[in-house]
Amino acid sequence: MDTSSIRIKEDRLRQDLLDLGRFGETASGGIGRTALSDADLAARQWFKERMREGGLEVREDAAANIIGRMDPPSGSNGAPCIATGSHIDAVAQGGRYDGALGICAGLEALRAIRESGVSLPCPCELLVFTDEEGSHFAGTFGSRAMFKLLQEGEMEKSRGAGMASLAQDLKRMGKDPQKIAEATRSPSEFRAFLELHIEQGPVLEEMGVPIGIVDGIVHLGRYLIRVIGKSGHAGTTPMHLRDDALIKAAGIVTAVNEAVRCAGPEIVGTIGEFRVQPGAINIIPGRVEMSLDLRSMKEEKLTSVKRQIEKIVSSADKARMDTILTKGGVRMDPDVMMTVELSCRERGIPFHRMESGAGHDAMTFPMVNIPAGIIFIPCVGGKSHCPDEEIRFEDACLGAQVLADTMVRLAFRGPLHPLP
Ligand code: GLV
Ligand code: MN
Ligand code: MN
Repeated sequence: MDTSSIRIKEDRLRQDLLDLGRFGETASGGIGRTALSDADLAARQWFKERMREGGLEVREDAAANIIGRMDPPSGSNGAPCIATGSHIDAVAQGGRYDGALGICAGLEALRAIRESGVSLPCPCELLVFTDEEGSHFAGTFGSRAMFKLLQEGEMEKSRGAGMASLAQDLKRMGKDPQKIAEATRSPSEFRAFLELHIEQGPVLEEMGVPIGIVDGIVHLGRYLIRVIGKSGHAGTTPMHLRDDALIKAAGIVTAVNEAVRCAGPEIVGTIGEFRVQPGAINIIPGRVEMSLDLRSMKEEKLTSVKRQIEKIVSSADKARMDTILTKGGVRMDPDVMMTVELSCRERGIPFHRMESGAGHDAMTFPMVNIPAGIIFIPCVGGKSHCPDEEIRFEDACLGAQVLADTMVRLAFRGPLHPLP
């Protein structure tokens, strides 16, 4: 398959990334664009307009996923589509490229395919998923909603007291959470899904290689740890009569960190959220809530460390640990990976096969037997989920080109696997 006529336009991609980076921009130079926040809603409006200008037919589903479709020039022929996409939401104080790169490059890839005059035998779709980062409850909400993989009651839950649930925020934007099933699509509508993303780690930069081809994604467990104490006056309650939830929580934090470190390099664990209530300078903390995120390529390792941590929590006074969500690790599709590899070879672009410690919407697709792949580009200093997140723009262009070429190659191949 000759894809030499497909050429992404660098200036257009650069401008889209710059413009999208203005939604939720913070004084520290980072992005605050959590899912369905005002900044996210504004960014979504803007991006839908860009998709329409790019010639896509745009709709939004019941889970607030944005779907842009490009049918073959001869019209919709009922063939399963080749899809690409990522997320537009960002973590609380995140960077400009996590998710944003995938949707902007996906749009550029589709524009480049259309402009090349190559007539594809099947439709293409650009999918912008809702709340990949899990700012409401669990991550990859939109992609899981699309394939009926949400947990019972998940949409009504929030990450902590006083925080909005997805059901509340969907209502705020005029959607009916009761109708979430309307977002469901059949896996047979998709021939393959491909996501371009920043690596979010240091490997590619250290190797000096511009493209990563992801073999698999880690197993992930997310938990909520709650510690109860007794709030009271900070000035009048003697130290020996206190039941301070924060002091008890601090013991749990250090014990958890120790347990994960001692388990070796195959597992990582992070307590990234910590809420102290009532949270005032003159009140003894009565309640603490904290998150725990555990990840490993080895499921047994994750299970054994989780058990150890459960023991730590249950031996503390008035503390409990609940599961927010577990996601089994996935392997990406060998045919899709080989096709990405071929696209790199044809353009003489060096690549490296690797695993991903970060979760992505692409991990939802193998769960319903849709062949999926992930293409990485390096990020400067390996930094991500922070305002310093940065890329080299030339890598973004290479990534977008490999994405466009691979989508075309996949479109001209027969079905990758028979569906069950
Ligand atoms: C998503 O960014 C994750 O937490 O891996
Ligand atoms: Mn992220
Ligand atoms: Mn991401």
